[in-house]
Amino acid sequence: MLCLQVGLAQVGRPVRRLLDVSCGGGDLLAEAARIVPEVVGVDPVAVAVAAARQRLTGGPRCRVDELSMEQLADPAGQTLGTFDLAIMHLVFGLVENPLAGLLAVADRLSEGGLFYATDLLRPAAFNADPHVAVAFRPANSDEHAYLVDQVAASFSWDELIALGQAVERCAPVRVEVRAGGLGGFDIASGQARRLVAARAQHMIPLLRRFEDDGAPEGAGPPPYEVMWHLYLRRLT
Ligand SMILES: C[S@@+](CC[C@H](N)C(=O)[O-])C[C@H]1O[C@@H](n2cnc3c(N)ncnc32)[C@H](O)[C@@H]1O
Repeated sequence: MLCLQVGLAQVGRPVRRLLDVSCGGGDLLAEAARIVPEVVGVDPVAVAVAAARQRLTGGPRCRVDELSMEQLADPAGQTLGTFDLAIMHLVFGLVENPLAGLLAVADRLSEGGLFYATDLLRPAAFNADPHVAVAFRPANSDEHAYLVDQVAASFSWDELIALGQAVERCAPVRVEVRAGGLGGFDIASGQARRLVAARAQHMIPLLRRFEDDGAPEGAGPPPYEVMWHLYLRRLT
């Protein structure tokens, strides 16, 4: 998963403990467990937790708990300890109390630790039909309807900025919100090149897969950014 590699590249230090905040069936955890000494996943849905546990046969270095993002602040969440890196992929729109969720995950980071989340960006004036068709080229009407729901539930740029500022007022963290590109950096920029270079062995094969995304010849990328990226760094 590209988001795992972006997180590992951006954290800026060796990652000993990684948390997947909403691990689903454990895809990211399984990949992370091959690279990171200790991985932990949480998800509030029992069937997802069961699937992830079955997927991760790595023993004591892997743990999956039935918890939501917000519940990371509860005593059960606190028993997980702290992490160098926490990741959240395609979930944030589902979180009932996003401010409480971000404060809870901030509390689970060690000093200097990083939380990286990415999800679909909702345009300020969201008009579902042209947006979803142009941005994602859904293969059928079911996929189209799913994407309309996902974008509608997600955040606009202004909402994310306001949320980041609210978190910074409540916790010792620095929040940065970006859009598009690789982890929010224009693919031709020096920052994106450094990001790829930091994880070249893992990232280059993933980026090659994106080059051939099945788009019709000459379709080109959408004329606007479709993903947001949020970096939350714990300062103390
Ligand atoms: C679209 S799936 C993404 C799963 C995984 N992150 C991935 O990229 O494959 C959404 C997941 O978010 C979980 N979820 C829903 N609400 C949540 C919350 N408040 N905190 C954490 N996870 C949540 C769901 O149970 C589901 O597994």
